[in-house]
Amino acid sequence: MQEDKEKWNKRYLQMQMPLESSDIINQFITLLPHSGSALDIACGNGRNARLLASCGLDVRAIDISDIAINLASKLYKEAFQNKSIMGSIEFLCLDLDSYKITPKSYDVICNFYFLNRKILHQIPSALKSNGILFLETFEENKDYPTNIDSTKILHQNELLELFKNWEIILNQTKIITRDRIDQKACVRQFIARNQI
Ligand SMILES: C[S@@+](CC[C@H](N)C(=O)[O-])C[C@H]1O[C@@H](n2cnc3c(N)ncnc32)[C@H](O)[C@@H]1O
Repeated sequence: MQEDKEKWNKRYLQMQMPLESSDIINQFITLLPHSGSALDIACGNGRNARLLASCGLDVRAIDISDIAINLASKLYKEAFQNKSIMGSIEFLCLDLDSYKITPKSYDVICNFYFLNRKILHQIPSALKSNGILFLETFEENKDYPTNIDSTKILHQNELLELFKNWEIILNQTKIITRDRIDQKACVRQFIARNQI
């Protein structure tokens, strides 16, 4: 949606988002294959796409914000020139709301701080056999109400229902402080492997 693009472009111009890759990928980095294909859904500044590529994966990184994609692309080129990244990253600036993920095409998918159920429901078929999903995003919790649009936060147990029959490697909640507005919120941290 054009609205999302404008909202996020404005936000990227106003403030710097964290550049460090996500804790749960770092903690479970040994799960990553050393080659293959990965998808970073709503990649932002590309912090996780760069980590996946530094492990040797060829990454497709998608985001609606051209400001974010240009920054991510610049940071990737710098890291590639310094030889700290082996794999490639293809950056695509597009709206995930109308995006179709090719089935059985990825060894790794990461989805951080972005919830779009049209995309979420494609993930089970998008991962190859033994493919791994890393996901972290806001979840509803009556003790930690937020002002986030209720369609963009997880319901409790939603992931377990969607990924039933998968190997669940990590499934925990964490309370974080949203720095921008100094508000506590509940996030779900989830890692699952396709056993089919
Ligand atoms: C909170 S940021 C998270 C960025 C990144 N995943 C991370 O964890 O650093 C949410 C991202 O979703 C992107 N986004 C929002 N709506 C989108 C859409 N419809 N299609 C693609 N990207 C979208 C924004 O541009 C923004 O980069």
